[in-house]
Amino acid sequence: MNVILAIESSCDDTSSAVIVDGILRSNVIASQKVHEEYGGVVPELASRAHQQNILPVVDTALKRAGVTKEQISAIAFTRGPGLLGSLLVGTSFAKGLALALNVPLIDVNHLQGHVLAHFVEPSAELIAQTPSLQGVEIKHPSFPFLCLLVSGGNSQIVLVESRKSKVEGDAHLPEMRIIGQTIDDAAGEAFDKCAKVLGLPYPGGPWIDKLAKLGDPSKYPFAKPNISGYDYSFSGLKTSFLYTLRDLLKEYGVDTIDELAERIPNLREDMCASLQATVVDILMRKLRKAASDLKINQVAVAGGVSANSALRQAFVDYGRRYRWTVFIPPFSFTTDNAAMICQAGYFKYLDHDFCAIDEVPFAKTQI
Ligand code: KG4
Repeated sequence: MNVILAIESSCDDTSSAVIVDGILRSNVIASQKVHEEYGGVVPELASRAHQQNILPVVDTALKRAGVTKEQISAIAFTRGPGLLGSLLVGTSFAKGLALALNVPLIDVNHLQGHVLAHFVEPSAELIAQTPSLQGVEIKHPSFPFLCLLVSGGNSQIVLVESRKSKVEGDAHLPEMRIIGQTIDDAAGEAFDKCAKVLGLPYPGGPWIDKLAKLGDPSKYPFAKPNISGYDYSFSGLKTSFLYTLRDLLKEYGVDTIDELAERIPNLREDMCASLQATVVDILMRKLRKAASDLKINQVAVAGGVSANSALRQAFVDYGRRYRWTVFIPPFSFTTDNAAMICQAGYFKYLDHDFCAIDEVPFAKTQI
C-alpha cells in the first residue's frame, strides 16, 4: 500500500489530502476568513493562520483517510508559486514530518497541481461526503491536451504531453509547457479588482458570477485586447471598466457607486454580466486559436476561475461547436486544494521523483 500525504499552503487556504494506492481518500481545506475585511489577502496574516491551521488540517486529513502517520509512504508539498511566508509554513511542516517519519519528500509546482486536478480519483466514501463531487462525471484527459489555467494569479494556456520517465517507459507526471499567458493581469485579478470598484466583497470573482446571472451581458461593451499569439492581457479591460464607471458618475453628477446604482437600475448586475462575458470571450478565443493551430481537440480548464459558470458553459458550447472533448473540474478541485497537489505527488512518487530536504519554496515561477 502506498500512502501519499499532501500539504498545500500557497495562498490563503490551508489544505491537506491523502491518496492511498492512487485513490483520493481525504481533502481537507481550512479557508481563511481573516482577509475579507481587508479586501484582499494580507500575507502576514495568511502565514499566521496557516501556522494555526496546519496541524489540525493534516490530522483531520489522515483521520478521514483512515490511515496513521506511520503508514505514510511520502509527503508532497506545494513548493511554489505563491506567497513566500505561506509556502514556508507548509514546506517546513512537510520537511519536519518527513524527517521524523524518515519518508521521502516530493515538491509540487502549484500550477502543475491545478492541471493535474483532472486526474484525481476520489473514493466512493469521499464522494458520498462531498456534495460538489456527487453526480459529476470525472473524466481524465489523454495526451496531448490543452489546459486553460485561470486563477487569481495566472492565466495561461498549457500544452500537456506525455514524457519519458527517468525510471522506465512513460512518466506518470506529464510534460507541461506554457504556450500562452497573460502579459499583465490574470483573469481572476481582473474579476477581483473590478468587483472591488463596484464595492463587492473579496474575493470578487464569485460575486461577479452571481450578479452577472441577473444582468445584460451586452449592456456595456468593454475594450478587448489585441495581442498576438496565444498571450492574454486584461489590464486594458480593467481600465475600460473603470472609465465606464467614471464617465457614468460624471454623467449623473454623483460621487459614489451606491448613488449611481440608485439612479441606474441594474447597474451592478449589467456591469458584472458585461465584464464576465468579455473575460470569457477573450479566454475562449485564444484557446480556440491554440486548439485549431495545434490540432488538439481535448481541452481542459483549471484554476479558481474555472468555477465561473459562464466559462464552464462556454466550454460546453465550444465543445459542441468545435467537437472538442472538454474537461471541467468539479467545484471542489477548482480553487486551491491539496487533492491536486497529492495527485501530482502520487505521480512523482511512482516516477521516483523526490526532492532534497534543503529544497526551498519559490514565490514566482513558470509551470
Ligand atoms: O486558483 P485560486 O483559488 O487561487 C489562486 O489564484 O491561486 O483562484 C482564485 C481566483 C480569485 O481571483 C477568485 O475571484 C476567482 O478565482 N474565482 C472566480 C469564481 N470563483 C473563484 N472567478 C469568477 N467566477 C467564479 N465563480
